[in-house]
Amino acid sequence: MVIDVKNISFQFDQGNIVFDNINFRLSEGHIGIVGDNGVGKTTLINLISGRLLPQKGTISLEGKVKIVSQFNDWEDYHSPGELQLQRLKDAVFSNPDILLLDEPTSNLDKNGIKVLSGLIRHFSGIVLLISHDFDFLDSTTDNILLIENRRAELYEQKFEDFQLEYEKKRHKEFQMYEVQKKQKNQQRKSVQRLQEKSQRSKKVRGISNSDKKAKGLAGKYDKVQNRLATSAKNMRQALNDNHYDSKPFTKIGLKILNYYQNSGKISMQLSFSNVKVNENYLVNSPFKINIKSGHVLSLLGDNGVGKTSLLDKLFQKLDEKNVHVNYFHQNINQDWCSSIPLITQLMNKSGIREEIILEVAGALGVNREMLTRSPNKLSGGQLLKVQLILCLISAFDVLILDEPTNYLDYDGVVALTTYINDSKAALVIVSHDKRFIENVTTDVVVIENKKVVDYLTLQDYFNS
Ligand SMILES: Nc1ncnc2c1ncn2[C@@H]1O[C@H](COP(=O)(O)OP(=O)(O)OP(=O)(O)O)[C@@H](O)[C@H]1O
Ligand SMILES: [Mg+2]
Repeated sequence: MVIDVKNISFQFDQGNIVFDNINFRLSEGHIGIVGDNGVGKTTLINLISGRLLPQKGTISLEGKVKIVSQFNDWEDYHSPGELQLQRLKDAVFSNPDILLLDEPTSNLDKNGIKVLSGLIRHFSGIVLLISHDFDFLDSTTDNILLIENRRAELYEQKFEDFQLEYEKKRHKEFQMYEVQKKQKNQQRKSVQRLQEKSQRSKKVRGISNSDKKAKGLAGKYDKVQNRLATSAKNMRQALNDNHYDSKPFTKIGLKILNYYQNSGKISMQLSFSNVKVNENYLVNSPFKINIKSGHVLSLLGDNGVGKTSLLDKLFQKLDEKNVHVNYFHQNINQDWCSSIPLITQLMNKSGIREEIILEVAGALGVNREMLTRSPNKLSGGQLLKVQLILCLISAFDVLILDEPTNYLDYDGVVALTTYINDSKAALVIVSHDKRFIENVTTDVVVIENKKVVDYLTLQDYFNS
């Protein structure tokens, strides 16, 4: 069992370079692949599985490979979590030597994640798994492969230790950048002084030739002026060549614009008699849901209990009452037409100005160039962010978010959390991401045993 990656370079046809000469060799172990949305995690496992071919370099594999991809057609399946767990089990039980898993915990509830962790821990072959879930990485992997700036770097340590080391490295780079910035400022000042001097000597040159001649200065001042101009130019050049020209990324300060201040006046109690899908009762007795501006209601429950179905019903009811609801649907929807640039689609669907869209997108790490690509040329997380952007830019009184953090990188989750905490709207959220819901929730309801139950706190639920 070996994965040997040698001098791999890869770019998509339009010149989007994803990897520039990466190397690593694995002969055993469980490896977590981490990195921001769009850095190339999915591309890497597609290269390893042979679905994509590199322009340069070789990948040698020994052993049978099985890959479970990031997205699938969920068809009409109402609980993608149940289906996802089945796909994962099938993959493990097919007994491969090398198992490649792309964000396997998305859509899984806490029990599903537990089952999967157990399966992976007992798996004796090589596992390469992509995840943004810290706890999951810690419980299932012993090594971390970080993808960043077109490179892959292997850390032979668990995620927690990797994270500490990574933070230290970042900090050091940042300090170096600050030092260089200071040096650069000093250089800039020198350039300025040289330029001023050169200007002054020009002025002297501006004295009529006959005067200069009279003063015997002509040749001398020309030389001085040229020399000053040249050194100013050289210094400017050096400044531009500076390696640390761009700021090492700091992971703070990204804030999603709360463009619409919501009315903050919603307060209603909605009554439901049941929740039914295809004549199956998911909830079989009447219940009430309170929707209030400034409140964040978390709807919890295991995979398949009917959370999304309840959200659909809730949306319908609010819509009938003419409440303005924006609804973020779980998973990537296929509605994005591929021939119209995403930015145009976003503008058309929302009626919002481009600058506003770009500002909200920017806070989520999505730039204009990405929004001019066709949707199938974005990474999973990037496309998901486009969907999220659509929900956040246009006005709403109630925002429904179904599993918004699936596929979202760390920065994305932080930005979304801050946005929700600042929002005055009424929010209803379904998420299995414990950390995220702990940070946003004010009210809790749980679907269990075919009933909708009010919980006082999240802790009650997690301890149950
Ligand atoms: N078919 C394509 N053509 C051009 N560029 C693409 C294509 N597919 C992906 N990309 C770009 O290549 C880069 C790597 O994409 P990839 O899907 O590997 O990212 P990722 O790390 O898996 O991200 P995520 O966490 O969002 O899943 C991204 O910047 C993406 O926009
Ligand atoms: Mg991916």
